[in-house]
Amino acid sequence: MKAAVFYYTQSGQALDAAKSICGQMDAVYKRIMPCQPYPFPWSRKEFFQVFPECRLALPPSGIEPVDFSDVMDADVVLVVGQSWFLSPSLPLQSFLSDENVKNYLKGRNVVFVNVCRNMWLKTSQKIKEYMEEAQARLVGHIVLQDNAANLVSAVTIIRWLIHGKKEATRILPAAGVSGEDIKGASRFGNVIENALKEGDLSGLQSALLAEGAIKYKPSILAIEKTGHRIFGFWAKFVRKKGGFGDNRRQGRLTLFYYYLLFVLFALSPLGQLFFWATYPLRRVKHNRQIDCNV
Ligand SMILES: Cc1cc2nc3c(=O)[nH]c(=O)nc-3n(C[C@H](O)[C@H](O)[C@H](O)COP(=O)(O)O)c2cc1C
Repeated sequence: MKAAVFYYTQSGQALDAAKSICGQMDAVYKRIMPCQPYPFPWSRKEFFQVFPECRLALPPSGIEPVDFSDVMDADVVLVVGQSWFLSPSLPLQSFLSDENVKNYLKGRNVVFVNVCRNMWLKTSQKIKEYMEEAQARLVGHIVLQDNAANLVSAVTIIRWLIHGKKEATRILPAAGVSGEDIKGASRFGNVIENALKEGDLSGLQSALLAEGAIKYKPSILAIEKTGHRIFGFWAKFVRKKGGFGDNRRQGRLTLFYYYLLFVLFALSPLGQLFFWATYPLRRVKHNRQIDCNV
């Protein structure tokens, strides 16, 4: 069975996940190359600069041309990447907006693999829209996330993305998805391969979920839903001052930075408390079914 794997990664984490999943398969790896490069580690200014375009699905550039000649016969396509600002990362959005990519994806079976911190829900909804637009069939959705507590991973990811320090300290765990979870992702490859061999991908997502393809954390996703809505207002507010890279929007981006710090470290723990206090009123089982489906 042959897989075409289109991936974007800065640290290599998403590629490690892709390789673990495709361990047994004949896989062709293709790096997504946005024309607009993104730094790693990021400066604070660069980090916030991508926010409005990411949230509003306005990628500032396209991608370098992709050679599809060696993946025309692929049985399945994996799109592997990450969330940025509760949305698919800009390289993923550039990739999925490309006309040649859409032509390639049309009618194909696609599995989306998100290797992120812990807020993936709105990304998956946006990916579904991109897939519909390309007339591709989204048959699987896998999320690999940081399993540390929300506040802890908020600290470790800043340390990693802005200061380039991923390793654990005496008090903090290493940032990102654990090596164990990356290694364990190989089981999802087996599930995909079995479904391909049987020639029936209609039950693939249920089979992936049975293997733990998405660890569902409802209190975090409740915060994400609210955050996504508010991010939308902020993104439009910033863009009133100018497009990607325009210096005139710097003041508003700095305001957003302080807002985000406040939300991450002060409001989100309260949000999680509120979620658990009102748990009986929430339709968690129902939401889980919708959120984890493809
Ligand atoms: C600009 C930016 C914004 C991010 N926003 C989110 C987010 O909203 N939700 C999330 O779970 N992870 C977020 N992350 C973490 C990424 O999803 C990802 O785990 C991390 O950047 C490592 O990915 P890599 O494979 O490119 O190295 C963000 C990362 C960056 C660089």
